[in-house]
Amino acid sequence: MATTPVRSQNPQSRAKNDHPSGDNRFKIIDRTLKRFQFQQDALIEVLHTAQETFGFLSDDLLVYVARQLKLPLSWVYGVATFYHFFSLKPQGEHNCTVCLGTACYVKNAAELVATLRKAYGIEPGQMTPDRQFGLNSARCLGSCGLAPVVLLDGEVVGRAQPESLLAQVQAALAPSGQASGEDDSAPVAIDLPNEEPA
Ligand code: FES
Repeated sequence: MATTPVRSQNPQSRAKNDHPSGDNRFKIIDRTLKRFQFQQDALIEVLHTAQETFGFLSDDLLVYVARQLKLPLSWVYGVATFYHFFSLKPQGEHNCTVCLGTACYVKNAAELVATLRKAYGIEPGQMTPDRQFGLNSARCLGSCGLAPVVLLDGEVVGRAQPESLLAQVQAALAPSGQASGEDDSAPVAIDLPNEEPA
């Protein structure tokens, strides 16, 4: 069964709903920031959300979080490098984050993980030996209405199904030119809804 893409209505509404950064994944971080009312002691929670959303903590992300929480960048960088569960480098050439938050879990998100685990022999938090594919899990990606939700190479896949997700990952990993060009199961960029996590 194909995943259900959700598209914005028109270019104007898309522009209106776009994150100022141009990358709507920052909306997910913004929701966590708002949930914690931009309190500086929410830094670790915000960094968790950032890593779950982007797969790793880039310099740009650290700068963004530091600015939003009004913390020195050196402090944010120090925290990000102190804890082993934060990564400052991309895990794999291609990355898939499966949300295992409550709303997604009850919609069989664990089956998505099991399918990818079986296909690639890796657990969430690991990558394949050739570093081509990294698998992660998240607690809530803030789009519960689209559960189960997956981030594949930064694109949100809503209402993901095991077979079609596997096909999407295989297409992403295929050498360029070998992916099926007309495949309607390819990842589809969507506008993240402005909803709070469950
Ligand atoms: S629980 Fe998965 S997006 Fe909220």
